[in-house]
Formats: sequence, structure tokens, C-alpha cells
Amino acid sequence: MSVTQLRVGQPQPPSPQRVTSDTLLQKKLARRPIVALTAYDYPSARLLDEAGIDVVLVGDSLGMVVLGYENTLPVTLDEMLHHTRAVARAVRRAFLVADMPFGSYHSSSRDATRNALRFIKDAGAQAVKIEGGSSRAKLVRRLTEAEVPVVAHIGLTPQSVHSMGGYRVQGRSREAFERLSSDARALEEAGAIAIVLEGIPRELAASITAECGIPTIGIGAGPDCDGQILVFHDLFNLTFAPPAKFTRQYADGAAFFAAALARYRDDVAARSFPNDAESYHLSREVHAALDAARPHARKA
Ligand code: KIV
Repeated sequence: MSVTQLRVGQPQPPSPQRVTSDTLLQKKLARRPIVALTAYDYPSARLLDEAGIDVVLVGDSLGMVVLGYENTLPVTLDEMLHHTRAVARAVRRAFLVADMPFGSYHSSSRDATRNALRFIKDAGAQAVKIEGGSSRAKLVRRLTEAEVPVVAHIGLTPQSVHSMGGYRVQGRSREAFERLSSDARALEEAGAIAIVLEGIPRELAASITAECGIPTIGIGAGPDCDGQILVFHDLFNLTFAPPAKFTRQYADGAAFFAAALARYRDDVAARSFPNDAESYHLSREVHAALDAARPHARKA
């Protein structure tokens, strides 16, 4: 196998200044957009970090785009911790947020706190993200008191797919507009450091962003949020699905990989890979000794 060049034992450039929750707040105040993206493994996380992405989220979208589940509900705590550790090994500058998976913060607040602490203590995240509105405010307060920074997530919350009756844009009616606005206020008051706004009308996202003292990070929420986040696999056409309205594909990763895979398949089939330069060889002395000992053996 080839060996990924890890940073261990390598001469290192000076550590970049780490993005913190305060950096995000300063960006909001200075009206400089926060750039966020998901990552689930070492190489992609390292590319994101080196590209200057401010926030790397190990999203539970992992379940769909990497693990092939139908939705995010089956993702386990162990799967999230495993991928968060891989991403944490790569990230030196970005603010690293890990999603708490469905079921890991829904029973007792004691279990939720214990699970959240694992992301910070064992896996190297700087914050956790939980989905839900005012009903999560108490938990946000409890985690904040336990020194676990919390990013809230309201609007289209994929872990509520069954109770929402599918993936639908939220906050379109006047009542829903008011409810989501009051959810955002409650979560800010409870101590959330930022709020992800997903799948809501642009006008609602703009209004929450103007009202809230903490940064908002939008996905399918229009351009007026303090920052934007997308799923890595949407950016690179790696989802095997037509893109949603709110995504933008920046490269055709599927076409890129498919073309390389076809070339590899054809080269192996034609015996043109590997060639002699891609092979290891015996030394001349060992070759000669073997030839002398086995004069009738077939010459390579
Ligand atoms: O799981 C995820 O990737 C997310 C983002 C889409 C915000 O929650």
C-alpha cells in the first residue's frame, strides 16, 4: 500500500491561528462571511483545512453520503466519533464541529451530556451540533455549563424526517415564521454559539440573522446568513442524485473518478499496468546467484 504523508515527524510550517467561536462572532460583526463545509475523513478534511474553510462539520449526513444509509437516523455515536477522530487528525486551523447523531441526545440530559463530552474529550471536536428548536434550549444550557460549545440547527432538521413528513422547506407560514424566530432567540439565550438554518425562506433567514447576536450559517436559507455550509459530496457531484435547488456543484467528481477508474480497468486488462518501472527488482548479485543455483529455471 502507499502511505499517506501524515504530519507526524515531518517538519511543520508554523501552526495557523485556530478559528474559535469568537473568530466566528467577529466575522459576523465585521460582516465577513463564514465559510463552512462538511468532511468525514482525513484527506478531505486536510484539503478543506488547507483551503482556508473556517468551519469543518462532521455532519451526520455521513450516514447518507458515505455509509449509504437511506437517511441520517441509523448513524451511531461510535460512527460519528470514529469519523470525527479522523477529521480532527487533519484539521489544524478550522473550527471543528461534530454532529450528535439521532438518539444520542434524546433520552436523558445526563446521557446527552456524557455523549457530548466524548466528542470534545475523545474525538477532538471544538463544538457539537444538535437539531431542534426551543425544546432543546434546556439541553443547550446544560451542555454549555459543562463547557461543551453547542451549534444549534433549526428549520429543515433531517433527524425529524418522519415528524416533518419528508424533507420539506420549513417556516413558510406566518406561524412557522414566528415559531422559528422564537426558537432562534431561545437557543441564543440558552448559550448556543451559532445556529445552522436549513431549508427555510430567504426572508426568514435574513430576519433571524439580523435579530440574532450569534452567527447564523445557512444551507438552503439564502445569501443573507452570516455564513454558508454545504455537504462535501454535493459540491463534487458524489451523491448519485440530482442536485437540490440550493446546492452548487463546483466540480464533477463522479466523472473525474469514473474516467480514472475506466483507464485503470483497461490498463490492468491490457497488462500495461504495472510496467517494469512500477515493479521492484532483485539485485544483479541475487539474480546471478539464483540463476547459478537453478540453471533450468525459467528466466523472468
Ligand atoms: O449533517 C450535515 O451535514 C448537516 C449540514 C447539512 C448542516 O447537518
